[in-house]
Amino acid sequence: MLVRTRLRLAGALASALVATGIASGPAAQAGQQHHRATLADLAQRHGRYFGSATDNPELTDTAYTKLLGHEFDMITPGNGMKWYATEPQQGVFDFTKGDEIVGLARANHQKVRGHTLVWHSQLPGWLTAKEWTADELRAVLKNHIQTEVRHYRGKLYAWDVVNEAFNEDGTYRENIFYKTLGPGYIADSLRWARQADPKVKLYLNDYNIEWIGPKSDAYYTLAKELKAQGVPLDGVGFQAHLALQYDYPASLEDNLRRFSKLGLDTALTEVDVRMILPATEELLAKQADWYADMTKACLAVRRCVGITVWDYTDKYSWIPAFFPGQGAALPWDEQLRPKPAYFALRNALK
Ligand code: G3I
Repeated sequence: MLVRTRLRLAGALASALVATGIASGPAAQAGQQHHRATLADLAQRHGRYFGSATDNPELTDTAYTKLLGHEFDMITPGNGMKWYATEPQQGVFDFTKGDEIVGLARANHQKVRGHTLVWHSQLPGWLTAKEWTADELRAVLKNHIQTEVRHYRGKLYAWDVVNEAFNEDGTYRENIFYKTLGPGYIADSLRWARQADPKVKLYLNDYNIEWIGPKSDAYYTLAKELKAQGVPLDGVGFQAHLALQYDYPASLEDNLRRFSKLGLDTALTEVDVRMILPATEELLAKQADWYADMTKACLAVRRCVGITVWDYTDKYSWIPAFFPGQGAALPWDEQLRPKPAYFALRNALK
């Protein structure tokens, strides 16, 4: 009895030391994995979720999948549900990649955010190569949305229905859908998705809308119009791909709140905080502050439902390939060791 109590105390002490960043190393990390509340546990105490993106090629990495299955309660497929992956030939659907991730999430009792149905990027060649009439493209779009949403009906928490629809100045992005169908493609997409799954939450999702400015104003105006017209929109996703060399989006909390007041959920959907390498102690500390500040902003707004990091480890971050010379953007490093950002997230969630 005494021995067990002592062991428990030792475990609790080790956890506390790790949580404060005093202890580190394998033993401390093992203690952390077995005894400590996870980010998901901590978020759930606030009625929120804490998620991570993942991608199919990484799922063979068992050290990686262990943490993925343990620490989070929401998963977003980083690529597997996109149009190029799901409808590689017109009318020929392949849900293998998305299904693999949904199956893994289910085995780990995690929910899934579907990402994404309508986006200008990662479209299949057959779609971008052809000049479509409006009638043709409308039919292609409707079929894509409804076939995919029907396939995952009842299995997802939310869908990013339309992704990245606006330019930085708040004008519509001139993607293939806008150019051929006009701005109404957004409302149509939401309605078609709702017909195919009456329960899943339907989101618009974008980057650089964390602060109040022309781009987030465009979403605010559109969301208000869509709600007024009875278009099924449940939430707005703020990707939150931040970079330490720019300013922290200080208006994030106010911004989330104004969308809440429209009767919408909000979520931080693709969080990462990149830096110009090398990662110094100072930069990692600043990054930790930003992760904590974003978390506090979400917790302060009732309808901010959760936070998802765009994968959890620097080992699988998209940043180095897209921004050469930048990286170290996630809360775990390339060896899957927790960084100051991880401990800051924990503290912010406590
Ligand atoms: O599948 C091919 C593979 O066959 C080939 O060998 C390899 C060589 O480069 O490329 C592979 O495709 C890559 C694909 O990810 C799958 O790994 C593409 O090159 C690469 O461009 C693509 O990047 C994805 C990016 O979206 C595309 O824009 C990232 O993984 C993904 O994390 C990223 O996610 C987006 C969100 O969907 C929307 N918001 C922004 C976010 C970051 O860009």
